[in-house]
Parts: sequence; C-alpha cells; structure tokens
Amino acid sequence: MNDRLETIVDLEKYPIQNLNSQTTKEIIKKCKSDLDQFSCSTIPNFILPKSLKIMNTELEKQVDEVYMSKDEPSLEKDHPKRIFSKRDNGYLNSDLFEKDSEMKFLYEQEELLKFVSACVGVSPIYRWADPLACHAYNIMKPDGILPWHFDSCEFTLSIMIQKPEKGGIFEYCPYIREPGNENFEEVKKVLEGDRKRVRQLELEPGDLQIFKGRFTLHRVTKIEGNCSRYLAIPAYVLDPWRVNTPEHSRTIYGKVLPIHIERNKVRSDGLAD
Ligand SMILES: [Fe+2]
Repeated sequence: MNDRLETIVDLEKYPIQNLNSQTTKEIIKKCKSDLDQFSCSTIPNFILPKSLKIMNTELEKQVDEVYMSKDEPSLEKDHPKRIFSKRDNGYLNSDLFEKDSEMKFLYEQEELLKFVSACVGVSPIYRWADPLACHAYNIMKPDGILPWHFDSCEFTLSIMIQKPEKGGIFEYCPYIREPGNENFEEVKKVLEGDRKRVRQLELEPGDLQIFKGRFTLHRVTKIEGNCSRYLAIPAYVLDPWRVNTPEHSRTIYGKVLPIHIERNKVRSDGLAD
C-alpha cells in the first residue's frame, strides 16, 4: 500500500491502486464511456481536502515565480499570439516544484498512470518528458481568460485547487479535429462565436478531470470576482521522447531549455500545436 498516496487521493472511494476491484472497474468503465463520447470525464472529490490545502500552499508560496505571458506589441493586433497573450493567466513551471511537492509526488505514482491509462483505454501512455510543462500549476487571475486552443499533449488531467467566485468555466468542443484533419472550417465557426458544438463543465475543488485535449478545442471563460483560479494540470503523452516546441515553450512557459531545441521535430499526427 502506498502510504503517501493514501493521504492525497480518496482511495476508499476510488481504490485506483487496485485496478481489478469491482469499484475501480466501474469507475474506469464510466470514465471510458464519457471520454469516448465527450473527450472528457470527471471524478468528483478525487483529491482529499487536506491534500488540496497542501497544493494550495505550495502554489501560493511560489506564486511570484509564475510566468505570465507577455504581450507582443510588435505583432499585428489580431495576431493569434497577441490574443493569446492578452490574459492574466500563467504557469508555475514543473521545474520549480520542490523535491517533496505534493503534486510532483502524485504525478510520479505508477498507480495514477495505470489508472489513467485504463480510463483512456490506451496502453502504454507515458509521463511527459517536458520538464516545464509535465505537471504545472495554472493560475488565472481576476479578469483572466484562456482563449480557445488545443493541447500539445494527448491526455491532460485537471485538478481544481481553488475556484473563482464566478466564471472560469471550462468550455470544449469534443473531437472537432482528428489526426491528419485540422477541420479548420468548423474550428473557425467556434472561434467566431458559434455555440452549437460547445459544452460546459464546472469543476469543484478536489475534482479530477481526465481530458483528451489534442483533438478537442477548449477554453476557460473570464474569471469574475476577486479570487484567482488555481488548477493543477499533470499530463500524459503517447510519445515519451517528445517535448513542447521551442516557440510554444517560450510563449507559454517563458523559457526554452536545451531539450526543447534538441527534440524539435515535426509532429507525427501532422497537427499544429
Ligand atoms: Fe488546454
């Protein structure tokens, strides 16, 4: 039995350390069906309140080191990069986490990896080799938005640590693109305000969301009120070698490491990041 994991995840309700238990089998079945239909599944109160507090504290302790993307006034006003950067939204990069960090520990557990692998119905999946992005905390301050985008990793977990008073709602368009097909026409419609494909998900603190963000366009609506939104976003990938492109890393995480340059190759699924 994993003693520390037991203090983080509600293993009584969700015995993920035992994939053969009837309870776990049922959870996996539901997750898989949600994921197949909607690209997204939620497990309520997955993280114990005491552990959430620890995550909140470790994040707030380093909040000054959060990288907030900067505007690039040299670009045209409607350039996607400028729209993207017009946000009070940033990341505490994974390389800044302390050695015994609660989030880092959780991310490194085989139990979680195997459970997620079963839920998404893909094996093997891997922890992300990107040292900045693999288990970052996302911080959205009041008035912040996260515009429509796709993720560069295949499977993203989201753990809500602190909810804003209002807004900060996750919106998504399940499977709007697929490998080899960007489906620009439909994507454009959504960007222009068409709500036909848009679904909403409200996460509560402690909830775990499992999400396939590479094919599903998604965003977070504006944070209203005075309270920031804190979200942990550990991620898994199909390719254990790949990391973010240097450009993506610079824009989103504020720096580029040698590994981003060494591993800067064309993506095998032919899609843009
Ligand atoms: Fe995302």
